[in-house]
Amino acid sequence: MNSSGCAAGGPCLYWGQWWAVGNTHMVCALLPLSHDLLGFLSVRRMGSMSEELSLVPLHQRPELLEACAALLGEEWGKSRASRLHTLQRSSDTFPACLLLLRSRGPSESPAAREGPCELVGHARLSRVVGRPHDLFVESVVVARALRGQGYGRRLMEATEQWARARGFRCLHLTTHDKQHFYAHLGFVLGEPVQSVAFLSPAISSEVLRLFSTPPGAAAATTTRPRVPAAPPPPLPPVAVPPPPPPPTVIWARGVLAESSEQSLLESPHHDAKGLPIFWMKKDI
Ligand SMILES: CC(C)(COP(=O)(O)OP(=O)(O)OC[C@H]1O[C@@H](n2cnc3c(N)ncnc32)[C@H](O)[C@@H]1OP(=O)(O)O)[C@@H](O)C(=O)NCCC(=O)NCCS
Repeated sequence: MNSSGCAAGGPCLYWGQWWAVGNTHMVCALLPLSHDLLGFLSVRRMGSMSEELSLVPLHQRPELLEACAALLGEEWGKSRASRLHTLQRSSDTFPACLLLLRSRGPSESPAAREGPCELVGHARLSRVVGRPHDLFVESVVVARALRGQGYGRRLMEATEQWARARGFRCLHLTTHDKQHFYAHLGFVLGEPVQSVAFLSPAISSEVLRLFSTPPGAAAATTTRPRVPAAPPPPLPPVAVPPPPPPPTVIWARGVLAESSEQSLLESPHHDAKGLPIFWMKKDI
């Protein structure tokens, strides 16, 4: 920890752009911001003040744990202990809880970097079974007082950028009622996938490696001696299947759905409680 109380080191994505912000409120956390962790992105000058955004994994800012639990609790309730338990598992090997942070300061100096920083939003990313290049996004939330000002878009765009920078190529998510928001951001209707919420200690090290190693990093991180690959099993006799029927595509409020069975207005999928749920995905 450095003198300002921030954990030092570790990569961190810095992101932002010039954009309009109205009157804003400090929410959840007023914390010192370290130069080491949060680089200057861009600034919008508002009179004598400027503003900067960044996306940081929670495990690099453990002092934000309580504020993050409060942000999620504000939206979805559940016990604080349960939230903290989930959030404490954030790691580079997934699930990863990403925080959208905002800092403000005098525009005439780089002091915004050292000014108080506030928690604006959160998204959690998990690996997807059988899809090494995909991630599942959940618990997307922007602080209530800050909604409708573009932070949700920036949270999702920064999350995509964070995932893409680590070699992932597709994001999946489910939503009960925010399908139009996600469609607006480029998500299309998709099919269910199985996310890996947490990796049990009972899982074999081989499987663990499959899920915990980001794509592209496998060759660099493995320390096991190279074992000659076994020859692939012989191919079965070739049976040429009939060509599939052409897909039926429909347009649902501007978004091309891949199946005629679902649209942004109606989904054939349901959650564990039987409520309709929309599966969506985006190539990043
Ligand atoms: C969903 C949520 C993250 C959106 O955040 P936000 O900061 O209000 O959204 P933004 O202001 O960034 O909106 C981004 C764009 O999406 C559009 N948009 C926002 N909500 C929308 C909705 N429900 N339907 C359609 N479009 C929507 C905005 O008009 C904006 O368009 P623009 O960028 O072209 O101007 C936020 O409302 C939230 O936290 N909701 C509660 C938690 C939740 O439901 N999370 C989703 C779980 S699946």
